[in-house]
Amino acid sequence: MMNHEELLHLIKSRRSVMPTQYSQEEITSEELNLILESANWAPNHKRTEPWRFKVIQGEVKKRFAEFMLEKYQETTLPEAQNERKKAGIIEKCLLSDKIILICMKTSHQLPEWEELAATSMAVQNMWLMCTSMEIGSYWSSPGAISKMNEFTELEEDENCYGIFYMGKRKGDLHESSRQPIENKVQFIAS
Ligand SMILES: Cc1cc2nc3c(=O)[nH]c(=O)nc-3n(C[C@H](O)[C@H](O)[C@H](O)COP(=O)(O)O)c2cc1C
Repeated sequence: MMNHEELLHLIKSRRSVMPTQYSQEEITSEELNLILESANWAPNHKRTEPWRFKVIQGEVKKRFAEFMLEKYQETTLPEAQNERKKAGIIEKCLLSDKIILICMKTSHQLPEWEELAATSMAVQNMWLMCTSMEIGSYWSSPGAISKMNEFTELEEDENCYGIFYMGKRKGDLHESSRQPIENKVQFIAS
């Protein structure tokens, strides 16, 4: 088993890595399966296992890029639209080797926030697994996620909460920082 220092190092190394930082090397299906398997081990109240993932790869990425562009055009005033942003939307999809739609199907057995918390923990598992495999990834939450049923069928009580862009990383992980944990922890004295 990994020791605690290695685990903390992995957690601190995890970064939001943008598609411009992805090499075009393929993420293998074995790697993808391990990433998804790690997600499936997230804790969840009442064992509802509410996370659902939809994998976009290959030719479907083009259709997804077009969908994202269409949503941008629909939701942005024509005078506010800009060509660089449009090109960026397409590029982001095409530079990613795989794109996972982060979805959640609520069971109605518990408050929805608990199932969203469980889904977020599943994403953290995937994100850490990606970090250990030198796969860059990040969670994106544009307005288009609320329209994802126009891209692919979602079940009843299923919603999309994010887009997880993924690709083999080129270059090093950048440094980041956090405010000290001491500022966020209170030891209750009595
Ligand atoms: C729920 C959630 C939604 C996010 N949505 C976006 C997003 O829409 N665009 C973006 O650039 N980053 C998004 N991020 C990534 C954060 O910006 C990023 O995690 C934060 O800046 C810290 O950087 P790090 O992940 O490298 O530590 C999101 C992260 C979370 C947890």
